[in-house]
Order: sequence, then structure tokens, then C-alpha cells
Amino acid sequence: MQRQLPLFSEFTEDVALPRPVNVASVPQRSPFRYPGGKTWFVPTFRRWVASMKIKPRILIEPFAGGGIISLTALFENLVEQAVMVELDEEVAAVWEAIVDGDAEWLAYRILTFTMTREAVEEELQKTPASKKEKAFQTILKNRTLHGGILAEGASFIRRGENGKGIGSRWYPKTLARRLINLNHIVERIDFRCDDGLRVMMEFAGCEDAIYFIDPPYTAGGKKAGKRLYKHHQIDHEHLFTICESLAGDFLMTYDEAEEVKVMARRHGFQMRLIPMKNTHHATMKELVIGRDLSWLNDLPAACESKVRYVQRQKQMPESHPPAEGYPDREALDSSG
Ligand SMILES: C[S@@+](CC[C@H](N)C(=O)[O-])C[C@H]1O[C@@H](n2cnc3c(N)ncnc32)[C@H](O)[C@@H]1O
Repeated sequence: MQRQLPLFSEFTEDVALPRPVNVASVPQRSPFRYPGGKTWFVPTFRRWVASMKIKPRILIEPFAGGGIISLTALFENLVEQAVMVELDEEVAAVWEAIVDGDAEWLAYRILTFTMTREAVEEELQKTPASKKEKAFQTILKNRTLHGGILAEGASFIRRGENGKGIGSRWYPKTLARRLINLNHIVERIDFRCDDGLRVMMEFAGCEDAIYFIDPPYTAGGKKAGKRLYKHHQIDHEHLFTICESLAGDFLMTYDEAEEVKVMARRHGFQMRLIPMKNTHHATMKELVIGRDLSWLNDLPAACESKVRYVQRQKQMPESHPPAEGYPDREALDSSG
């Protein structure tokens, strides 16, 4: 479907720089810290769903990763059901274990694990005998590898935050609580270890489905993508073509890159740039793509100021992870 592009630039950033949204309003619900995680996008996602005339029934998240958008949508009753798709088998093992009813087992395993570098290495050398054991290994890796990166070549956190080394992102109580909380919504999750594009096509005719699409893409090119995810190559042109065919509405997020803008224009989609802070606290702009983004026109930026983050951190004792719902570093990073 071809739509008329606005007369002026599709980017409204120069018109009025929006005020930051308070990321404290985004409860951390995912057991993952995910590279490219979309916690910062939650306020925008809420706004999108609120703008819909008819409440959607199903959310399809074809590149689920840490799944914060699906989890938020379910906890906040924005949709009845979420179809979460992820190709990475290690990540999938976590979601599958949760859906299979093993969240409590995982929580117990986390609470009783003594975090040392030796214990982590010993655990990760084991061949997992079950899905839930593989899930535990994944959580362990995700919390002890640099940036939560599970792709080949990732190294352990060395110095870590506050010099706490390998355990600097290991918050057993917080993780256990998040896992057990998931039992409230687990029956509404349809998880698939599959190709996200294939699942999108499966639901393409479904009018009450919406799609949050966050594909592996890094403006730095293939190499950068490879560093973050085991599965990083997808046919983006094909993805755009599938989006055109969807009966339900969709939203895509991408790194800002000229080739992505070209594709979006070619398919007649609208675009906006949303400022965010990356892991290194540099302000980056993420590209949001959809059919009609007029609901975004007066949305404040979904990012938080560095100053506020630093102050918040100082108030917290080192031995306690930030409480749920507060802007811990994970809420502000791009790494979920
Ligand atoms: C940018 S990340 C998604 C992050 C997610 N939005 C979050 O908040 O955590 C992209 C994810 O897509 C997964 N992926 C890559 N190719 C895929 C495919 N063909 N089907 C499903 N998932 C895929 C990667 O493993 C990665 O987890």
C-alpha cells in the first residue's frame, strides 16, 4: 500500500525537542539484560496501543530477545496474548522453561548458586541434561558475560560495576522475584523457537494482531550485529514486504541508517527518530517505522538524563539491587 509522504521531513525532531519520560515508570520484568533491549521504548509502546481505536487481542513479537515489550503488554493488560518468537536456542530455553512451569525451579537454582568465577566456569562446562538446566546456564551467561552478550566471542565481566567483578550483574533475589512474577502471565504467552518472519506470515491475515518488530540490525554493518547476536542476518527487504501485507498494525525499530530509511520510503511507511541513551550514555537516535505515526507527534522522548541515573545509583547500597520499578542502570541502558 502506497501512502503519501508528508511534505516536509518525516522527522519532527527539530520542531521541538521533547522532554524526557521518567523511565522509573517501566518496571523491570525480564530475567534478561539484553543487548539492544527495549525497556526505554516501553512508554512509546504504551502510547501506540492507547492510540488504537480497537483494543488489539494478540501481540506478535517476532524478535523477542529479552521480551520486555511482550511482558509489559501482558502485565498491563494491553493485549490478551503474546506470541514471542526467538531463534536463539539458549534464549529460547529460558522462555520455554518459564512457559513449561519451571520458573520456580529456576528461581531456586539462582538463589542457591554461589557466585564465583570458578563456579560459573564449572557450571558452563556441563552439558545440560534438560531444558531448565540449559535455561539456568543461559541466565548465568547472560549475567556474567560482558554486556549480556551470548554470541560467540563474548568474554566474562572482569572489573564490573563498583569493582564487583563477575558478580556485578548477579542479583539473585531480584532475578528470582522476576521469574516467579512471570507465573501471573505465563499462560498468556505463546513462545516459539522459530523464524520470526515465518510466524509473522502465519498471523498476517489476523486483524486483531499487532506486531512489535525489533530485528537484529546494527548500523555498523554485519560485524557489529555478529558481535551481539548469534542470529543476526535476516532479509530486511523481505521483512518490510511482509509488514506491508499485515492486516494488523505494526511498529518497527531500527538503528538510524540511510539504507533503512530508503527501504521504509520505498514501502510507503512513515518514520520518526526517538532519542535514547546507549550503554555508554551517548545520545543516539532510534528509528521508529510504521504505517501511520501521527500518534507519536507529541510524545516526549523515551530517555532519561544521565544526571538522574548517577544520583539514583549513589543512593543505593551496593549490596542491594535496585528495587523493581526504579531506574536501575538496566532500565536506562540500551542493554535492557
Ligand atoms: C534487537 S534483538 C531484540 C531485543 C528485544 N526487543 C528486547 O527488548 O530484548 C533481536 C533478536 O532477534 C533474534 N533473531 C535474529 N534472527 C531471528 C529470526 N529470524 N527469528 C527470530 N528471532 C531472531 C536475535 O537472536 C535477537 O535476540
